[in-house]
Amino acid sequence: MQILLAGGAGFVGSHLADALLNKGYEVLVIDNLEKGSIINIQHNIGKHGFKFIKSDIMEITELKEKPDVIVNLIASKIPRYSSGYITLTKNIEVERHLLELSRKYNSRHILISTSDVYGKSTDFPLREDGDLVLGPSTSRRWCYAVSKIYNEHLSLSYMDEFGVYVTILRYFGIYGPRQHLNWWGGPVGVFIDALYNGNKVEIHGTGKQKRSFIYIDDVVKATVKVIESSNLNGEIINIGTEEEISILELARKIALLMDKQAEFKFVPYENFSKNYEDPQRRVGDIKKAQKFLGFKPEITLEEGLKKTIKWYKEQKRSE
Ligand SMILES: NC(=O)c1ccc[n+]([C@@H]2O[C@H](COP(=O)([O-])OP(=O)(O)OC[C@H]3O[C@@H](n4cnc5c(N)ncnc54)[C@H](O)[C@@H]3O)[C@@H](O)[C@H]2O)c1
Repeated sequence: MQILLAGGAGFVGSHLADALLNKGYEVLVIDNLEKGSIINIQHNIGKHGFKFIKSDIMEITELKEKPDVIVNLIASKIPRYSSGYITLTKNIEVERHLLELSRKYNSRHILISTSDVYGKSTDFPLREDGDLVLGPSTSRRWCYAVSKIYNEHLSLSYMDEFGVYVTILRYFGIYGPRQHLNWWGGPVGVFIDALYNGNKVEIHGTGKQKRSFIYIDDVVKATVKVIESSNLNGEIINIGTEEEISILELARKIALLMDKQAEFKFVPYENFSKNYEDPQRRVGDIKKAQKFLGFKPEITLEEGLKKTIKWYKEQKRSE
């Protein structure tokens, strides 16, 4: 089986590439390295079954070999300080382009979506068939969710119109080695980096908002299962954990594990784009993943944080 990972030099994609190669599959990574890094994939370069093309995906219209599966991992995320233009246009154009490639080569298509599509829904735990509740269009932060919801509908319409096999995965907040150490990668990397460098830990809003974080290895296991399955056409599946923690507790937990004293700097939402909104809770129902994939997260938050801190310190030592 050949799998095309669009955005495969990024955080999730590079781990997915490792796992697929270990299972003996052929992996083609296409990435322009805008956010990803050659460091994430260099250990695979030259390995049997691994190919890397450094390119903007929009430039790729022909492939030498037909991929069996195309996974879209490319995304511009929540615009905290900027406009939503790039998030909206890029996410939508890339998904349309990859759906066209999937149609052309008759490849199974996996769209990586996000829990952000649930928006402000309070119907916990958030179910795949539940309502998606967004705030006003004047709040730019919803551009990310809008682009992903559009992509979900677009991919399902390709299934209806052109018979493209489509599966949608809604990832919840992921953390682990190779994650970005700024807000692009979420709070875990930001907090570890701040604590290590003796900086104040930036908390957005009150810090009372709760999230459920999932360790990268669990996400990869579930995604590999989806790649290996051929009975998931038209399915939307949450990939997350049921373990919830407030952002402030998360910062305190990381500080404790790093044996550091945390000092906080609270940043009000008004400092971001106009009408910035942040859901107060975000936890998904993972019964569907359990049923279809036999998925059960195996790494607790404490274990995962310890592994991530260890990785971070190793990076620092080798710098
Ligand atoms: N990381 C999380 O916590 C999380 C949570 C929910 C959903 N997701 C989704 O998972 C997917 C992967 O996220 P990630 O954290 O690995 O992101 P990432 O930014 O690390 O990876 C995306 C990769 O896409 C590449 N890329 C960007 N534009 C490109 C283009 N035009 N052509 C080719 N390559 C391009 C980047 O260089 C990067 O390597 C995204 O779709 C994201 O929305 C991630």
